[in-house]
Amino acid sequence: MFDSKVEDLLNKQIGAEMYSANLYLSMSAWLRDRSLDGYAQWFYVQYKEETDHALIIYNFILNAGGQVKLGQVDAPPAHFKDVRDILEQSLSHERLVTSLIYAINEAAQKSKDYKTVQFLDWFVREQVEEEDNASTNLNRYDLFGASPEGLLSLDEDLGARTYRQTEQVALYESAD
Ligand SMILES: [Fe+2]
Repeated sequence: MFDSKVEDLLNKQIGAEMYSANLYLSMSAWLRDRSLDGYAQWFYVQYKEETDHALIIYNFILNAGGQVKLGQVDAPPAHFKDVRDILEQSLSHERLVTSLIYAINEAAQKSKDYKTVQFLDWFVREQVEEEDNASTNLNRYDLFGASPEGLLSLDEDLGARTYRQTEQVALYESAD
């Protein structure tokens, strides 16, 4: 059972994670169009991880006896100024997502919904990592991205990222 506000915020968070997925997929397309295949790969993996985040919340709601209500997901931008613009937008987007997670946490604590508080622990930690990754990408671009050699080496580096399904997806998948 859920407090209705907590349930509503969790459902909205599914939408926010799906928006994140689409935002990163759109960024990945823009980057691939410009032959920055390594950057494109990094954001493609990021897209898959965001769909995992949506599924984790989806499974948790069902698992904990709540009701899933999917809402409309806004279209992400298709055009970006340059690589830096993408890196800046991804950092500010992750900061926004962190604030959304904190807001659910606050509502859950207020209504003594400790299962949700505990569930969100993983997301709180994940957001620390997401913000760190995004700011590292931006800082490295500012340090090395201005030279063709620097950009090529950053692109190769980021292209090494591979996807593995987040463990939490399976954790809440079928326990009822
Ligand atoms: Fe996420």
